[in-house]
Amino acid sequence: MPVPLLDVKAQNLPLETELQAAFTQVLQHGMFIMGPEMAVFEKEVAEMTGARHALSVSSGTDALLLALMALNIQPGDEVLCPAFTFFATAGAVSRLGAVPVFVDNCPICFNLDVNDARKKITSKTKVIIPVHLFGQCADMDPILALAKEHGLKVIEDAAQAIGSQYKGRQSGTMGDFGTYSFFPSKNLGGFGDGGMLVTNDDELAEYARVLRVHGGKPKYYHHYVGGNFRMDTLQCALLSVKVKRYAQYTADRQRNAAHYTAELLKLPGVVQADPAHCKCVSTQDTWLSAQKAKIVLPVAYAHNSHIWNQFTLRVLDGRRDSLRDHLVAKKIGCDIYYPVTLDQQKCFASLPETSRSGCEVAHRVAGEVLSIPIYGELTEAQRNEVIAAIAEWL
Ligand SMILES: Cc1ncc(COP(=O)(O)O)c(C=O)c1O
Repeated sequence: MPVPLLDVKAQNLPLETELQAAFTQVLQHGMFIMGPEMAVFEKEVAEMTGARHALSVSSGTDALLLALMALNIQPGDEVLCPAFTFFATAGAVSRLGAVPVFVDNCPICFNLDVNDARKKITSKTKVIIPVHLFGQCADMDPILALAKEHGLKVIEDAAQAIGSQYKGRQSGTMGDFGTYSFFPSKNLGGFGDGGMLVTNDDELAEYARVLRVHGGKPKYYHHYVGGNFRMDTLQCALLSVKVKRYAQYTADRQRNAAHYTAELLKLPGVVQADPAHCKCVSTQDTWLSAQKAKIVLPVAYAHNSHIWNQFTLRVLDGRRDSLRDHLVAKKIGCDIYYPVTLDQQKCFASLPETSRSGCEVAHRVAGEVLSIPIYGELTEAQRNEVIAAIAEWL
């Protein structure tokens, strides 16, 4: 039985009647830009995340750009961000002429290594962007403490992590700004591009609101240069239908992750990442070789509530591509998020050497990772098919 990596239709088609009603409502009033459904959806996200302000925007990428613009990031300013993440995190920094300074990652949770971030702070550093990768929060307490110590602003890139929690706090609401993405493959997947910027700061929210509409307030009077960062009314109306089901979507992914973990751990050579080795890669390696580990399963830290945007294996001993080829031959969807770290991207080759150094863990992880299907509608039979295919490869 083929198992796709993702099946957005399985989630959306059961909602067809409600989605069509939402479409008809927007069609009939005709307010396609900033219509009434926008405020409704923003309120729903604010209530779900506990953020004081939620501004719908054109994408998760534009949410990052808008956050950086609202913090007045200027050419030459330095912004710390992880080396192992999706491109948009650093792309948004570069588009303002600022310099992304790449920070190494943790091999256990895949998130930014705060000790490495500390080493890379200079007098030009203005912002740190922790990314809550694959649906699990970065270690925010030390990140927030570091930011406070050095007067840095914090933008949480929670594109993959809306609704995930760190010590009971919602992702996106702990820093100065948080950003979410509604790209169709995200846990709250839209019907095209869309995103959200959240903040608890009234002044930043107001400034971002003005920048979202070309910096004009009132309309046609521009004190600032902003952009067109709006999300369509229609997209908001459709996402309102889905946001009401979000708790169930998360529970379904968590069930799938628990099933994979329980069953895959029964296979020889499969271990679960051990948070005890978070800070020390060499003791982790000794431990992994003592276990004769071939595959390392992801783990949620006890203080986190993980929403599993991805279920990402680490395949050791240079055998990742072999497992990928095997799964592809078996028609099991899988993909590499992400094969090339950002410090190694060609477009950043002209950045100063200091902004691209010391990301060895990130490089290694990029050579080991393989994500397998985890979407909520995956059936038990499909999960078992994935597990059987991995068992066959081992
Ligand atoms: C970590 C991260 N940041 C930013 C983005 C950008 O979001 P969007 O695709 O909505 O622009 C994504 C989306 O893939 C992401 O995964």
